[in-house]
Amino acid sequence: MSQLGLKDKRVLVTGAAGGLGRAFAEGFAAAGARVIVADLNELGAQETVRAIKAAGGQAHAAKVDVTNAQSCAALADFAQKTLGGLDVLINNAAIYAGLERKTFTDIDEAVWDKVMAVNVKGVWQMTRAVTPLMKTAGAGAIVNVASATVFSGSPQWMHYVASKGAVIAMTRALARELGDDNIRANVIAPGFTLTEASLDLIADAENYGVTRGALKRSADAKDMVGTALYLASDLAGFVTGQTLIVDGGRQFN
Ligand SMILES: NC(=O)c1ccc[n+]([C@@H]2O[C@H](COP(=O)([O-])OP(=O)(O)OC[C@H]3O[C@@H](n4cnc5c(N)ncnc54)[C@H](O)[C@@H]3O)[C@@H](O)[C@H]2O)c1
Repeated sequence: MSQLGLKDKRVLVTGAAGGLGRAFAEGFAAAGARVIVADLNELGAQETVRAIKAAGGQAHAAKVDVTNAQSCAALADFAQKTLGGLDVLINNAAIYAGLERKTFTDIDEAVWDKVMAVNVKGVWQMTRAVTPLMKTAGAGAIVNVASATVFSGSPQWMHYVASKGAVIAMTRALARELGDDNIRANVIAPGFTLTEASLDLIADAENYGVTRGALKRSADAKDMVGTALYLASDLAGFVTGQTLIVDGGRQFN
């Protein structure tokens, strides 16, 4: 863990009320980071903080709506006040739970707009709110959570696939724009991972990954944590603009 250089780093994880976000928050805290656990679901964020503290880690809960510029700015202020700045941002919040599969001709326009507002605009809003703190710190790392669906072109989910493709594209633009400030931006693209949200989305979810990848098992949230820690860490100090698919070898890019 010490090689990661994450001890006492100031880390913000969005969408950390449960699922992958909670696993990321717990993973950073276990690596010695000080973590802000942010979500629209404030009670869930508080639960994550309780779990981190019970394990001996340091964390603070905060409410945020990543689609709202003022809410993102308030969260940046909170990071400044509670942690004295910010070193790492994990853009994990997204509309994923409850998304219905529909052919592209049938997707409801309001749902399309909502997915884009959270999954695309939310990443932009959150990132631009906190990069001034990273610039002040003289360095920073951003890890954006996309999805392996971008590479499989998962059918009947065009809004979600497009939104996560945009996350990869935005990350490349961010890497270019923030390189001069010593801020890196990378993507983790998880394959299907067992979380409360995903269990509701696919029939026979538990067995979904067993036959599809090179590694014959399903993923759980903990399988994603090492990659997020690595991309945020000193070990990835010369890695930026990249996308790492973590799906047990189902897709190769
Ligand atoms: N579970 C999977 O199979 C899988 C696969 C690939 C990618 N992902 C991605 O991983 C991330 C986490 O997925 P998960 O399975 O834990 O799902 P999840 O639904 O549990 O996590 C998303 C979180 O984002 C929060 N959120 C939604 N809108 C928000 C807003 N406007 N502002 C702030 N927070 C908001 C939700 O409250 C929720 O806690 C998402 O980006 C998802 O797209 C998941």
